[in-house]
Amino acid sequence: TPLEIKIVEDLMGMQACNLQNLPENYTMKYYLYHAMTWPGLSYVAEDHDGRIVGYILAKMDEEDTVEPHGHVTSLSVLRTYRRLGLAKKLMVQSQEAMADIYKASYVSLHVRKSNRAALGLYKDTLGFTVKDIEKGYYADGEDAYAMHLSLQGDH
Ligand code: ACO
Repeated sequence: TPLEIKIVEDLMGMQACNLQNLPENYTMKYYLYHAMTWPGLSYVAEDHDGRIVGYILAKMDEEDTVEPHGHVTSLSVLRTYRRLGLAKKLMVQSQEAMADIYKASYVSLHVRKSNRAALGLYKDTLGFTVKDIEKGYYADGEDAYAMHLSLQGDH
């Protein structure tokens, strides 16, 4: 398969996975924008038949020109493939690329206060800390934790 077609197929698989797993959804244009602007930051996990069962959609923060840092736009894994270490692997791979390719000093993300699984992954497994609480960040009014992880000293 030509590379361009493979990339578009992967982005469509990511979007399908996102629609199943999260209420925060994005246009195909936004997936493409990530892939074209920050190659190396977004990844997929596939089953043996090549079906996409997990993804990370990530970018560099576009406002912060002082301290370049990465940002995880979206991460999810299909229900039957959870607790296998896929999300951790996707996060670590993207974080390494943020530091190596884009010289990111830290990575940021938002997560729902009620999202116990994701908080377990970010806090306990990966070592993120809560930087801020953003009131009513989500469309349904739920608050977000703004979380950070330093990437200094990883390399
Ligand atoms: N409860 C508590 N801790 C958990 C849970 C859980 N349900 N799931 C993962 N963790 C923690 C554990 O410490 C786990 O290590 P362990 O299995 O050795 O105990 C560690 O995270 C690593 O877990 P993974 O297997 O790598 O995580 P998984 O592949 O299951 O994916 C994810 C985790 C992405 C949160 C998944 O549950 C999911 O897709 N949820 C729905 C979508 C979602 O909430 N995405 C994150 C939104 S925030 C954002 O996108 C920036």
